[in-house]
This record gives sequence, structure tokens and C-alpha cells, in this order.
Amino acid sequence: MKKLANKTAVITGGNSGIGLATAKEFINQGATVIITGRNRKAVDEAVADLGENAYGVIADSGSIASINTLREQIKAISQKIDIVFINAGVGKFNSVEQMSEEMFDEIMDINFKGAYFSLQQILPLVNDGGSIVFNTSINAHIGMAGASVYAASKAALLSLTKNLAIELLPRKIRVNSVSPGPVGTPFHSTDKLGLTDEQLQQMGEGIIKQVPIGRFGTMEELAKIVTFFASDDSTFLLGSELIADGGMYNL
Ligand SMILES: NC(=O)c1ccc[n+]([C@@H]2O[C@H](COP(=O)([O-])OP(=O)(O)OC[C@H]3O[C@@H](n4cnc5c(N)ncnc54)[C@H](OP(=O)(O)O)[C@@H]3O)[C@@H](O)[C@H]2O)c1
Repeated sequence: MKKLANKTAVITGGNSGIGLATAKEFINQGATVIITGRNRKAVDEAVADLGENAYGVIADSGSIASINTLREQIKAISQKIDIVFINAGVGKFNSVEQMSEEMFDEIMDINFKGAYFSLQQILPLVNDGGSIVFNTSINAHIGMAGASVYAASKAALLSLTKNLAIELLPRKIRVNSVSPGPVGTPFHSTDKLGLTDEQLQQMGEGIIKQVPIGRFGTMEELAKIVTFFASDDSTFLLGSELIADGGMYNL
């Protein structure tokens, strides 16, 4: 029996990286998946790649006006949702001296405020007994120069995980988090991080030295963890976090 047979999932930021790999794994495990994204072309291409059990919705997690269209767009595809993976996020890094209000707001608007209000939109559609998973980051636990605002945006999601787990207990909706260490996705690109090729290479080499297993994680490894939280394999887990980081934090 497939782990997610007859389940319907929403994955925010599902057109790329960990979100897209998780959509593939959910579908392999029998689910129907609705991905969200801000870029129509990227979402359409991902849906075509995912096949017949996938649907796409356009919503910019950095805009409340756009997020406010989520519920109706999702309802037009499915009246009921079992799994929500709040995954959309950006990585922007700068020192406290150099941080602009614009960059601060972009990080917080997408990673924290967008996560919160996306979930608020979707929640009335979630079945009692459903599962919500946040994608946070190892940065919520460690100190890294230039990462303070990104880390704070992810630490906020860990706080949400615990508080919403207790708040949603009467509906038997479980809330948990996965906190990835470095994972090989388009997140680590010159475009998305705003770095030069040389800076990106240096950053990658610097990160690998801090990972005991000696490599980046793969999107597929993360997708399996999210599937664990989404499925009935984890029914005794509430408000919990799995740090998936090749030993970076624990060793
Ligand atoms: N890769 C890592 O090392 C790592 C480590 C720790 C945590 N994470 C977290 O994992 C999550 C997924 O990242 P990833 O590594 O899979 O990177 P990715 O390939 O860049 O995926 C991020 C996804 O979020 C979407 N997104 C970003 N801003 C959005 C917005 N305003 N509205 C809607 N969608 C938006 C992206 O859409 P576009 O394609 O349009 O940009 C993309 O689909 C992020 O929350 C990230 O912080 C990643």
C-alpha cells in the first residue's frame, strides 16, 4: 500500500528544488499534489514534469494580496486537503552593517509572513487529522556570518511549529518541521543567492568543510523526510523537528 494513497497535498514553492522533489515523492506514494509558485512558466513546466496527478496554482508568497487568492484557487482543484508542506523560501545573506530594509522585508515577507498567511489561507480546507510540515533550516540553530535575518526567519517557523501544533490539536492536525543543512538545489545558484561564480564556489567549499558527512544533501533525501512527516508513519510526532544536515549541527 502506498503511504499517501487517496491523500491530497499542497506544496508551496513546489516548482523547484526540495518542493519539486517532494511533489514527485508524494505522487510516487499515491498522492495528488497541488504546487504553488510565483512564476507561471516555471509552475507549468513543473506540473508537466510531475504528470497527471499534479496541479499548479500561482501565488507569490511575498504578497498578501496574492496569498489571499490561494484558498479559492486550491478549492477549484480540491475541496479538501490532507497535507500542507510550507516550503517556499529565499536565501539572502548580508552583514548587519550592510542589511537594507528592502532585503530584510523580502526575506521576512516570503519566509515567515508568507509562510504564516499561506497556511492561514489553506487551513480551512485541511481535513481533521491532516499533517502540516514547515521547511526551516539548520541556520535556525547555528551562527553564520551574514545569515542573521535568514536564520531569524527560519527560527520563527520553529516557533510556529510548536505553537500551531498545540493550537491545532483539537482538530488532530499535526504540525512538524524539517530543518535541512546544505542541499543541492537551485537555491545555491549565483542568481538566487546574488553571488558571483567565485563567491558561490568559495561558499560551497566553506560549507562542505562544516558537514561531517562531507557532501550536500540531495533533494530526494529531504523529500523522504517530508513524506515521513506527511504520512501515518509519524502519527506520534507533534511540534517536532528533524534536523537533516549530514551531522552539521549534532556532531
Ligand atoms: N537548499 C538548501 O541548502 C536549503 C537549506 C535549508 C533550508 N532550505 C529551505 O528549503 C526551501 C526550499 O528551497 P530549495 O533549496 O528547494 O530552493 P529552490 O529550488 O530555490 O526552491 C525554492 C522554492 O520557493 C519558491 N519561492 C521563492 N520565493 C517565492 C515567492 N515569493 N512566492 C512563491 N514561491 C516562492 C521558489 O520559486 P522560484 O523558482 O520562482 O524562485 C522555489 O519554487 C526554502 O524555504 C529554503 O529556505 C534550503
